Amino acid sequence: MKTKKLRKNTIIIIISITIILLSLIIGYIYYNKTYYSKKYYSNKAIEAIKVHDIKNIYKEEYSKTLDIVLTENLYEPQYLKEYQRIEFINQDDFIDKIIAYLNIGYSGNEINNIFKLSKINQDKLLNLEKIDFTKYLNIQNFDVNKIERYNKYLDKTKKDLNTVVTYVNINLDNKFYTNTNEVNNPNDLTVIVNKYNYITKDFIPKNLVTLFDSKNGAKMVKEAAEAYKLFIEASKKDGLTLESTTAYRSYSFQNTLYTNYVAQDGKEKADTYSARPGTSEHQLGLAVDLNNPNHSGARLSGSDYEWVLNNSYKYGFIIRYTEKGVPITGYMEEPWHIRYLGVDLATKVFKSGLTYEEYYDLYIAEY
Ligand code: DAL
Ligand code: ZN
Repeated sequence: MKTKKLRKNTIIIIISITIILLSLIIGYIYYNKTYYSKKYYSNKAIEAIKVHDIKNIYKEEYSKTLDIVLTENLYEPQYLKEYQRIEFINQDDFIDKIIAYLNIGYSGNEINNIFKLSKINQDKLLNLEKIDFTKYLNIQNFDVNKIERYNKYLDKTKKDLNTVVTYVNINLDNKFYTNTNEVNNPNDLTVIVNKYNYITKDFIPKNLVTLFDSKNGAKMVKEAAEAYKLFIEASKKDGLTLESTTAYRSYSFQNTLYTNYVAQDGKEKADTYSARPGTSEHQLGLAVDLNNPNHSGARLSGSDYEWVLNNSYKYGFIIRYTEKGVPITGYMEEPWHIRYLGVDLATKVFKSGLTYEEYYDLYIAEY
């Protein structure tokens, strides 16, 4: 009997001590939170807290964003909770931006998400009405300006979000040759020219030189022409007999070609194999068409194609129009048309397995 009572007492004592300890710990934490929260606010902010009569602020966690808004005299009472929710970021225009976003109507949590977007997108958002971009948040090539087009294309095609963003960025939600843009870097090795991006009539590349194997004066930009020589030498070593047919073509030459093809096959068909003037990579001086003179019929044999496909990147070239790429490039497969990008980029594009359009959008274009 006696031991039972003793045990009961012990339990009561232990429980009491636990309760006392817990209360002390909770009290200590609570006290410190209030204390430190007050301690962290700058003197100017503390003044402003008094002036604006903000209640209970020290009981809540310290907010650096609120501190700065108060210190800089930008405080607006209706946004109190939002300031507190916005995680401070050490970025020059941080405060100006949060004020602007709050005025557009974004909540604190939405503003935290805005700061996860690229700086370019953050800036673009300042000029837009409020949009809901949540589902695109983690997509690297997301462009806030195109959100309506993404949503529409998503509804229409039900493709996955990454594809939707890339395809719309490429412009595939528009018919070929509509919503076109003039390219602004036609002399760059990375330039992309296609059914949506054109170069002007008068664009002539710098540094055109005649190809070492040319019978008809075919030219390319110097760096590409030098790489082309190495490429052909390597192909010879492996027993191939490739040569160049056309390389650089002026706007007017492309115009003549295209016009003749249209007369011969009609516009719809011609568009599947010939670029309209101003949209050919040949005008860039960065493309060359290959031919195997020992092979009758098609320009290249199957084994030529295999070799070119698997080796051209080592010399800086890619096969630009593949079978898989047809819906994106709008051209039928052209195993003979190689495009110079430089070894580094050509290797990356080849290894990615993407069309240059997709690769460019994902890894070169800035959003
Ligand atoms: N055959 C390619 C598409 C061109 O005309 O540039
Ligand atoms: Zn070509």
